[in-house]
Amino acid sequence: MLRRCPSMSIESKAASWGLSWVVVTGASQGLGAAICQGLAGRLAAGSRILGMARSAQGLQDTGDLVQKVNPDVKFIPHVVDFETASREDLKKIIGGSLKVENDPLPSRSVIFHNVGSVGPLDYLQNLKDQDTVNHYFQLNISSVVVLNAVFLEIMSQHPDIAVEVINISSLCGVQPLKSWGLYCAGKAARDMIFKVLAEEEPNILVLNYAPGPLDNNMQEIARTLTADKEVRSCFASMKDEGKLIACHVTVDKLLDLLRGHQFKSGDHVDYYDV
Ligand SMILES: NC(=O)c1ccc[n+]([C@@H]2O[C@H](COP(=O)([O-])OP(=O)(O)OC[C@H]3O[C@@H](n4cnc5c(N)ncnc54)[C@H](OP(=O)(O)O)[C@@H]3O)[C@@H](O)[C@H]2O)c1
Repeated sequence: MLRRCPSMSIESKAASWGLSWVVVTGASQGLGAAICQGLAGRLAAGSRILGMARSAQGLQDTGDLVQKVNPDVKFIPHVVDFETASREDLKKIIGGSLKVENDPLPSRSVIFHNVGSVGPLDYLQNLKDQDTVNHYFQLNISSVVVLNAVFLEIMSQHPDIAVEVINISSLCGVQPLKSWGLYCAGKAARDMIFKVLAEEEPNILVLNYAPGPLDNNMQEIARTLTADKEVRSCFASMKDEGKLIACHVTVDKLLDLLRGHQFKSGDHVDYYDV
C-alpha cells in the first residue's frame, strides 16, 4: 500500500512549480505514483496531472494520494497498455486530458517517461525468444519515442508553454550488469534518445534521472529473479544493509533538481550525484 509522504506538506512547497500540465507514465505504483504525489504538493491550483498505466485500481489509488496532498490539483487517470497503444490512442489521451476549454493555459508542461519493466533477467545466451525481446523494446523504447513525439506535437500548438522532458533512467544505463542485458540496453538507449532530443530542441529542458535503488516491487524482482548469483546477492545485500531508497526521497531530490535547473539539458544525473 502507498503511504503519504510526510515531507510533502502543501505549506512548504505549494505552487513552487506554478500552473502546470504534467504527464506521468507508469503512474499506478512505485516511483510513478510517488512522482504524482510529490508533484501535487508543488503544483499551483488548476494544474493537471495525466497518469497512465494498465491498472485502473493503481491509478485510482494514486489519484486519491494526489487529492489528499492537494485537492486543487486534478489527477486524470488513463488506463493504457504501452505495448499495444497506437499513436492515435496516445494523441487522443493526451489531447483530451490536458486542455480544458476556457481554463487558463499553464506556464509549464512536463512529461515524466517513468514507465519501465525489468524483462527477463537471464544471460544473453539464453534470450532466444524473438517475441520476448521485441515486446521488451516495444514497451521500453519504441512506445517512449512515439509518446514523446505525440506530446511534443501537442505542445507545439502552445508555444508559450515551457516544455520539460524527464526520462527515468538507471545506473544500468551506464553500467553493464550480468543477466540484465535487455534492461541495461533499454536504459542506455533511452538515455541516448533523450540526449539527442536535447541537441535537437534547445528550447526544451531534458533530463535523464537515475533514481537509485528503490525500496519497491522492482527490487524484489531483482533480488529473487536475477539469474546471475553474484548480481542477485548484491541486490539482496542492498536490502539487508538498508541501502534501498524510499520512492518519496528520490522524488524530492528529482523535483528539487528540476526546480533549480542545476544541470545541462540532456545530462544523465544520478540520485547519488546531487
Ligand atoms: N526500482 C528500482 O530500483 C529502480 C532503479 C532505477 C530505475 N528505476 C526505473 O524507475 C521507473 C519506475 O520503476 P518502479 O521501480 O516504480 O517499477 P514498478 O513499480 O514496476 O512500476 C512500473 C510502472 O510501469 C507501469 N507499466 C508496466 N508495464 C506497462 C505497460 N505495458 N503499459 C503501461 N504501463 C505499464 C506499471 O503499471 P501497470 O502494471 O499498472 O501497467 C507501473 O506503474 C522504471 O523506468 C525503472 O526502470 C527503478
